[in-house]
Amino acid sequence: MIYLNSNQNPLGPSPNAMAAIKAALSECHHYPDSQASELKNKLAERHSVLPEQVLIGAGSTELISTIARSLLGRGGTAITSELSFVVYSTAARAAGGQLVQVPMRQHGFDLEALAAAANGSTQITFLANPNNPTGTVFDARRADDFLARVPEHVTVIFDEAYYEYAEAFARERKLAYSHSLDYVRQRRNVIVLRTFSKVYGLAGLRIAYALGPPALLARFARVRSVYSISGPAQAAAVAALDDQVHVRETLANNRAGAKWLGEELSGLGFNPLPTWANFLYMETAGNGEMFAERLKGEGVAVRPLADWGAPKAIRVTIGTPEQNRALLAALRKILRQ
Ligand SMILES: Cc1ncc(COP(=O)(O)O)c(C=O)c1O
Repeated sequence: MIYLNSNQNPLGPSPNAMAAIKAALSECHHYPDSQASELKNKLAERHSVLPEQVLIGAGSTELISTIARSLLGRGGTAITSELSFVVYSTAARAAGGQLVQVPMRQHGFDLEALAAAANGSTQITFLANPNNPTGTVFDARRADDFLARVPEHVTVIFDEAYYEYAEAFARERKLAYSHSLDYVRQRRNVIVLRTFSKVYGLAGLRIAYALGPPALLARFARVRSVYSISGPAQAAAVAALDDQVHVRETLANNRAGAKWLGEELSGLGFNPLPTWANFLYMETAGNGEMFAERLKGEGVAVRPLADWGAPKAIRVTIGTPEQNRALLAALRKILRQ
């Protein structure tokens, strides 16, 4: 099976990370460092913030749940866009709160509508930038305007799981993509989420981080489970940060794959949305779930999006050139049938 359904890195992890994982395994009779201090300090230095402005978590999904549990009391409200990351709604509901979804504009976040929807009873806004599953972004100026308009008591979450991909596309397309770290340095009521699951290829190890105001992060740390980030995960993340060659190879593969797949899929009549991440969103002529089943029958797993509110759509991760060719061959076969 070729897995193009979870936006993983098709090149796998960095060889440096693999070596660090193997070395860390011989220490696995010890509990991990509950503060993940080495990684925290390294990230603080890299992003020019204080270590107290960094919190490591077992994946962004754990951090999202922790944020929802800390900030949404029973009946609390979070807002986001329609057709955004499904975990926002499960996390809000599991925390005893609710999620309000504002209609999209051009397959992306309608920040003006979102700012207008935020009121006295809103605690959180979840902004996925790039958005999963549509792959769209809003630029830094629109985010600045949004922050100026949203009430100050609302904690704004910039979920930048695909940051490195978006930043690379933005350089090429000459767009100012994100000022999120400036907001953190200015101590705004903002949390930035970044993960090691995507460009760093460590999805199976579960490790990510939040950047934000020290008092808020300390509050999250109190409700997080203590040893959820394993020693191998911490070691792998530290090593992965140092291997920027692997990051560059990943981004180059993604850039070439996005272009090739985008053109080929358009040639087959699918018209995928232009992507800012490592996946493509497209509508099928009929039922996305059935379409994904047929692709699975041909050995290619993609993500149907009915559960996310888009019954015709599928999301396809950009793979290696071989995987992309296999996807195209499977699609051609299905269309012929
Ligand atoms: C927007 C977004 N946020 C967070 C995540 C979850 O990442 P993690 O593996 O760090 O939990 C994903 C993964 O698909 C995502 O698309």
